Amino acid sequence: MSALLQKYVAPDWTTCLNKVPSTYLKLALRPTPIHPWRLHGVPDGFSVSIKRDDLTGCTLSGNKVRKLEFLLAEAVQTGCNCVVTCGGLQSNFCRAAAVASRQIGLDSHLFLRCPGNLDPSKAQCNGNLLLDRLVGANVFLVPPLSYEGKTNELGYVAGLKDKMSTYADKLRSSGQKPYNMPVGGSNLTGMWGYIEAFRELLDQGVAEQYDDIVFATGSGGTASGLSIANYLTGSKLKIHAVAVCDNANYFYDHVGDTLEAIGMGDKVKSTDILDVVDGYKGQGYGLTTDKDLRQLIEIASSTGIVLDPTYTLKGVQGLLGELKKNPTRFKGKRILHIHTGGIFGLYDGRITEILKSTPVTNRITVFSEP
Ligand SMILES: Cc1ncc(COP(=O)(O)O)c(C=O)c1O
Repeated sequence: MSALLQKYVAPDWTTCLNKVPSTYLKLALRPTPIHPWRLHGVPDGFSVSIKRDDLTGCTLSGNKVRKLEFLLAEAVQTGCNCVVTCGGLQSNFCRAAAVASRQIGLDSHLFLRCPGNLDPSKAQCNGNLLLDRLVGANVFLVPPLSYEGKTNELGYVAGLKDKMSTYADKLRSSGQKPYNMPVGGSNLTGMWGYIEAFRELLDQGVAEQYDDIVFATGSGGTASGLSIANYLTGSKLKIHAVAVCDNANYFYDHVGDTLEAIGMGDKVKSTDILDVVDGYKGQGYGLTTDKDLRQLIEIASSTGIVLDPTYTLKGVQGLLGELKKNPTRFKGKRILHIHTGGIFGLYDGRITEILKSTPVTNRITVFSEP
């Protein structure tokens, strides 16, 4: 397995960081393309292009693959033979982790939050979960716990992190070597996926051709990597992360903690290098209304770009909403939106009825000879 590892030569501008990976695994198809996007609702004077990180692969698609290049390299380098991670029932990260692990010969154990009945016989066979099952991941259905444990009036309540840790101990005692990855792969190792992605953006001329970069943020890893790299390179892009869960403080704290951990805490604050756009979670993480799904259809049917309901649709709602309400929030007029993937979340069945009742997606008739 270690034959898969490649030597990682980090960009010169990262030499000041105190933890630089020495290896990576080539998993993502990159560079991903950038092209103009004729998105409706963009005010006159602004232009929007799109970076297609939804095209980092097929079953391995989206932003998570870039993080896994460094996370799974660390797993292989440290002699692990399986991975343990967690997320929502339709987690893109867990799916990408399960597929990539299997490709490199590792088993995967996924703790998936499942609201309601924890009955495995009723578990879905669609979207990301279909792929988890196809690659033989060991799936554990768990209630919707937070990642970190917390103390309340009943005492300490274990979070998913604790459950994964106990489970990893059990695997170890049976002779396995597990590698635990946090929710969304957003730790100091996973962040390198988007430090490296920033080098790719520079090679593509983004610093000269654009003023602002906008994307959806869920666990903060993409935001950490891009904002820190933008700062380190002295590029003058403005980085905007649209929150699809939690709130702005949560993401500023996450990036702040990361700055601290990499030895930059005394040089710069997260609020200086990142703009977290709040107010676009809608009804909450993973929840969408019929109106949202109609907008997703409108964008797909007018531009050919297919968004996912949980992340990228909300990222675009944040972009369009702020361009309209608060255009001075952007540094300039040339915007690059990063499509972070998530396509399989669209296959969970919730869009079926809207498709049938929307004229443009219901152009299905039986052909009759003219
Ligand atoms: C499709 C998609 N886009 C964006 C994100 C957010 O990225 P991050 O977790 O790095 O904030 C995620 C995962 O959380 C995702 O699956």
